[in-house]
Amino acid sequence: MEQQKRYGHFDDQHREYVITDPQTPWPWINYLGNEDFFSLISNTAGGYSFYKDAKFRRITRYRYNNVPMDNGGRYFYIKDGDTVWNPGWKPCKTPLDFYECRHGMSYTRITGKKNGIEASVLFFVPLKKWAEVQKLTLKNESSETKSLKLFSFEEWCLWNAATDMENFQRNFSTGEVEIEGSTIYHKTEYRERRNHYAFYHVNAEIQGFDTDRETFVGLYNEFADPQAVMEGKPRNSHAHGWSPIASHYIEVTLKPGESRDFVFLLGYIENEQEKKFSAPQVINKEKAHALIAELDTTEKVDKAFAELCEYWDALLNIYKVKTGNDKLDRMVNIWNQYQCMVTFNFSRSASFFESGVGRGMGFRDSNQDLVGFVHQIPPRARQRIIDIASTQFPDGGCYHQYQPLTKRGNNDIGGGFNDDPCWLIFGTVAYIKETGDFSILDEMVPFDNQPGSEVTLFEHLKISMNHVINNLGPHMLPLIGRADWNDCLNLNCFSWDPNESFQTTENVSEGTKAESLMIAGLFVVTGKDYVALCRKIGKDAEAERMQQAVDAMIEAVKKHGWDGEWYLRAYDFYGRKIGSNECDEAKIFIESQGWCTMAEIGAEDGLVAKSLDSCKKYLECEHGMVLNNPAFSKYIYEYGEISSYPEGYKENAGIFCHNNPWVIIGECLAGRGNDAWSHYAKILPSYVEEKYQTLHKVEPYVNCQMVAGKDAFKPGEGKNSWLTGTAAWMWYTVSEFILGIKPDYDGIRIDPCLPETATDYTVNRKFREAEYEITIHPNGAQKGVKQIVLDGKPVDGTVIPYSVGKHTVEVTM
Ligand code: BGC
Ligand code: NOJ
Repeated sequence: MEQQKRYGHFDDQHREYVITDPQTPWPWINYLGNEDFFSLISNTAGGYSFYKDAKFRRITRYRYNNVPMDNGGRYFYIKDGDTVWNPGWKPCKTPLDFYECRHGMSYTRITGKKNGIEASVLFFVPLKKWAEVQKLTLKNESSETKSLKLFSFEEWCLWNAATDMENFQRNFSTGEVEIEGSTIYHKTEYRERRNHYAFYHVNAEIQGFDTDRETFVGLYNEFADPQAVMEGKPRNSHAHGWSPIASHYIEVTLKPGESRDFVFLLGYIENEQEKKFSAPQVINKEKAHALIAELDTTEKVDKAFAELCEYWDALLNIYKVKTGNDKLDRMVNIWNQYQCMVTFNFSRSASFFESGVGRGMGFRDSNQDLVGFVHQIPPRARQRIIDIASTQFPDGGCYHQYQPLTKRGNNDIGGGFNDDPCWLIFGTVAYIKETGDFSILDEMVPFDNQPGSEVTLFEHLKISMNHVINNLGPHMLPLIGRADWNDCLNLNCFSWDPNESFQTTENVSEGTKAESLMIAGLFVVTGKDYVALCRKIGKDAEAERMQQAVDAMIEAVKKHGWDGEWYLRAYDFYGRKIGSNECDEAKIFIESQGWCTMAEIGAEDGLVAKSLDSCKKYLECEHGMVLNNPAFSKYIYEYGEISSYPEGYKENAGIFCHNNPWVIIGECLAGRGNDAWSHYAKILPSYVEEKYQTLHKVEPYVNCQMVAGKDAFKPGEGKNSWLTGTAAWMWYTVSEFILGIKPDYDGIRIDPCLPETATDYTVNRKFREAEYEITIHPNGAQKGVKQIVLDGKPVDGTVIPYSVGKHTVEVTM
């Protein structure tokens, strides 16, 4: 049989994915930066940088949907005689003697070799710094002295990434730069309202530069053959208007065996209003000089890199599993946790599928993302919870998204997604269970960011629950509002106008009967959590009140939400069933199966088991479980965007990976370890790495949002990689429900659900001020802990009580 083409492999020891062929089936990217300054970088060094907000504070320019795809980025051109090449192959695409891209934890190293020269670039954003380091090492591996011409390249974005792409009548006249020594400063709009500028520096003397794009590239040339580079002559151009860029020109001579480092630094600076200028029209560069001085030698940069690596060591040391199964261990210990952090940082804003201009931080998205990384940096989760809750309204409703730069609710997107409030409980409970920090409940949090409107966070949780109870429909099930988790199930929108967005067009909720079984399940799950929390903090009356609401919801689901073999999905505006055997298409949906089985509604009557079996029977296919089945084959005016997608894509019967874990958790709660595992392994990237190389096409080290479903024209194609709730849900599922290590208020609950074939494994878990080494002996059981021995003494029940210090735990199933 013909050997399948491979583009890379995992290197677990270094926690890297190693790409060995630059022509991956789609750009395979990585993320740099952990707090304020962020970059996206592809395996050929494409991508861009921004400060905090990919829309409002874009530092370098990027053109989406380009031809070729992924054109533009941070490029180094090496001119060696008549040969011009790039270490990352693009944009010149000169065939290389060697190519390798190593994507690691917040860094990327790209190495190319050509004609005896090795060029290796390490890209990373140092901790707490507003800058991207690009450490380029040139090495002469030939036996003769080489004289090279080196050109760097970055293209500035005029800050607002949206207007940068459209307002050319203005943009072509505003661009301004300054050049000082080896530093090129970008200061467009600094003369007026901006107090920030960017710079591109190199720690070496330069022999020339360019700052005007057309002068450097030539109007009829391309990134692949910039005139200045091809002729080996910088123009020393000074940009006024048009498109400012930054390019250094350096002449390098290397003896045989000699190597030399160049530290390039892309930095971002903010100045106080009164300190903006050092002379009329001249920017105050003090802070830039200081930042440069911190990173201007190989030693300093290596130290900053070592700190970044230690940071990741510490983060990944909090939960570590050893099962002996490399494919599982690498996802749990490295890549799933890494993706969770990236998703938390970027929400759904900036990827090669999200332009960074369309979406801010989602209310529900952020609460879910939080669960993926709360064990790593609880203080950031705490802050995020407060930020999110601050965009809530007094009736419990909330903005669907907020902008990270201002932390204000985004009016363009609005609200009315009736699942949103419940997610605040989901996030907050996860935070308290991890940290034991109940004080967050007393934090004073405003409504809609209005000073003076503050109430406690607990009050926000209460009104979140109330929002569901206060918005029940004719079957006493939750009204869906604009939509629930499925943004595209728009049951109150009725649009025939292609110029309307399904997400924002009028929500005709007056007189609606549209109810959601997904929210019903979500309400029961989070309601139970809320009740337990209330009991924990002595609010018994409130616990009792909510328990009754939860019980009523369970009854409503059993009475009006069961279709015979599975849970219904919804009722439409007119009160007609959606996701029923009676429907022509889309007879069954995954969301309500996931949430109602997680809520264990009707388990005692066999509903859960039937629903899980139906998922296997109707939703499962070789790449995972589809969202609905069969797909909609036509647009249904009463259902909205869901039926706008062609069959098998996105919310119309795509494998929307995000919701597969819900069913897997349902399986785990039901004790069906074999089924849970087989669903899980189907969408676990390392398990289907081969498939990623050819069929899924997107990065094999992370989950993507969507894999085309069985009804698609091309089943199995992956899209929307990286920024997806799948990351947090995969983590939550494997760490807490499959491997069974679940933080709880008073300790760690141990309750694995495994395939029969599972063998002994060990989890090292740091938890608050304690550290547990937990060894599980499954003995062929799928579920059920028989005995827990803590530091040599048997424990009653399944919770290891929390106590400071190091402990050993033996668990027999
Ligand atoms: C997509 C959804 C997304 C929504 C909001 C829809 O077109 O299919 O997945 O959540 O837009 O941006
Ligand atoms: C992507 C959105 O970010 C998420 O909030 C939503 O739940 C899913 N799409 C499903 O529509």
